[in-house]
Amino acid sequence: MNICEVTLLLCMCQLSLQAMDTGFPAGLMADCPGMNRTTTLSEETKQSLSIVVIYPTKGFLIRHKEARCKLDEPDCVTKHINFADRKTQVLISGYMDASFSPLVRAFVAQFLSMKRNVLVLEIFPILVRSYPLAARVTKPLGELLGQFLASLTQQGLSPNRLELVGASLGSHIASHAAVEYRRLTGQRPARITGLDPAGPCFRNVPPTARLHADAAQRVDVLHTNVDGFGIAEPLGHVDFYANGGEFQPSITGKFILPCFQLCSHIRAGFYYLLAYTNPDKFVAVACDSVANARHGDCYEGTIRTNILGPKTNFTKRGIFYLPTGAVSPYHLGLNGLKKRKYGVNDYLLAPAPEGDITI
Ligand SMILES: *[C@@H]1O[C@H](CO)[C@@H](O)[C@H](O)[C@H]1NC(C)=O
Ligand SMILES: *[C@@H]1O[C@H](CO)[C@@H](O)[C@H](O)[C@H]1NC(C)=O
Repeated sequence: MNICEVTLLLCMCQLSLQAMDTGFPAGLMADCPGMNRTTTLSEETKQSLSIVVIYPTKGFLIRHKEARCKLDEPDCVTKHINFADRKTQVLISGYMDASFSPLVRAFVAQFLSMKRNVLVLEIFPILVRSYPLAARVTKPLGELLGQFLASLTQQGLSPNRLELVGASLGSHIASHAAVEYRRLTGQRPARITGLDPAGPCFRNVPPTARLHADAAQRVDVLHTNVDGFGIAEPLGHVDFYANGGEFQPSITGKFILPCFQLCSHIRAGFYYLLAYTNPDKFVAVACDSVANARHGDCYEGTIRTNILGPKTNFTKRGIFYLPTGAVSPYHLGLNGLKKRKYGVNDYLLAPAPEGDITI
């Protein structure tokens, strides 16, 4: 081998090294200013916050009623609902969402049909600010909610009958609320469900600054847009990566409206809602790593399964690949237990054939 060849070889090595060294996808907006710093809510802001209480009634025509309470008025809630005979479900939506949005209302209707008391944190007054500010507000807002829930516990709310569902930024708010709740009561809420917990601004923060498994007795997470609006790391006891966790399928064919980031992010809410009404159908397969879950490489050897939704088995912890179909009601049941070709972007690329075409 002459010097030229050696140089060429070295050069090619370097080239191929460079090609490989693109790192792990950093994801949309990994770091944001001041996530470390203190964020305080003024009295005025606190006064603008409220919680919507929706409770079943014994009426013949009117099945449930609604009240709006300030976060420093626990009596306002206990006046309306009885904690003794029902589970209490707290719902926290994501950025720019509100208690009156259709998806939030669909969750409320679902919880009411399960005979639960429903408390919806109205985040609208503060989470209409710029996203990086809203991300910083998750901590003080969550702590305020935690204090509120702790005061309800003094009036009979049992942590074992308290569950929180948080979507996107709401997942982190739920976690902060649970940590503050534990600080004040010594106990953890029964469950937190995170629906595509927000990734932007939260990718590199310490675990306690975002949703984490220690926050509640059981923490389950559904990932649907890991490098976009969601987060790639497993955060709970059980983490589901729907279709690899990045892009969610929609109607395929030559004319499709692809389900890109926002569509995939929001899809978490739809899957979970349908999991309540189809509690055995969203079957997922255990994976060794998030990297394998991204590609659905989880079918080697003995297949271990878990189920998304009310029947998630929390003794089976870990990372799970959740295959779904492209149209509602999405679930595949046991048909999802066969390996399929599903790369991260396969569904987005599917409308174009590999060979030469005339169009
Ligand atoms: C948080 O603070 C540490 C030092 O305490 C610093 O190294 C780090 O870059 C900060 N992170 C962010 C996101 O500001
Ligand atoms: C949950 O999983 C464990 C471990 O695989 C199993 O022993 C148990 O029966 C499961 N529970 C339910 C309710 O299926």
